[in-house]
Amino acid sequence: MNDVSDRGFWEERWSQALRDHGDAITRRPPNAHLTGIAEDLVAGVALDAGCGHGSDTLWLATRGWRVTAVDFSATALDHGRSTADAIGTDVAERVEWVEGDLGTWAPEPGHYDLVLCLYVHVDGSVEAMVERMAAGVATGGSLLLVGHRPIDPETGAATPAAGQVQVSVDEAVAALDPARWEFVVAEDRPRAAAGTGTDAVIHARRLS
Ligand SMILES: C[S@@+](CC[C@H](N)C(=O)[O-])C[C@H]1O[C@@H](n2cnc3c(N)ncnc32)[C@H](O)[C@@H]1O
Repeated sequence: MNDVSDRGFWEERWSQALRDHGDAITRRPPNAHLTGIAEDLVAGVALDAGCGHGSDTLWLATRGWRVTAVDFSATALDHGRSTADAIGTDVAERVEWVEGDLGTWAPEPGHYDLVLCLYVHVDGSVEAMVERMAAGVATGGSLLLVGHRPIDPETGAATPAAGQVQVSVDEAVAALDPARWEFVVAEDRPRAAAGTGTDAVIHARRLS
């Protein structure tokens, strides 16, 4: 069985995807949950944890954000870096591409105005992962977590994320102290990509 929490799996997956349809990947639009929340935010310092090919990082950077983009796939990071270079020096200079394993890599505490972690497969405890990402958010900043639900709640059918561990609303809410976090969004929402079920969407603002 493929192990989606394995670095080698992702290296292989990104290498093949970029070989087969690299241009289409470069043109991918940013995530709709992100654009929905970040449109209203003042550009600051962001962390894109599990950035993949970098479309969300680059959308933020073109809007003036300085972004730390972390992934354990060197191939995905290389693609993001060269896409940034092609967009222009001003955008490329706003992004730091970091090769790191989110199982152990921890953000600088309280540093980021926005931490996003979208569709990242968790190897271990979801609660620990949420706490690690949340620790990077500055007071007044936002945490955006999105997980692809393994079962479509509408139909009970398995989705392409079946068998994977990704963040859920219940686990994220349980991991965040309500005295320190305001939940702006904490619900399952239809996934923008048609036919692939439902996303758990958590947008929380740090109060203190
Ligand atoms: C489904 S992709 C999502 C990419 C991007 N966030 C998006 O929404 O398009 C999952 C990404 O997480 C990365 N990833 C998975 N586990 C990781 C880990 N433990 N540390 C760092 N990156 C990881 C993979 O390399 C892959 O790029």
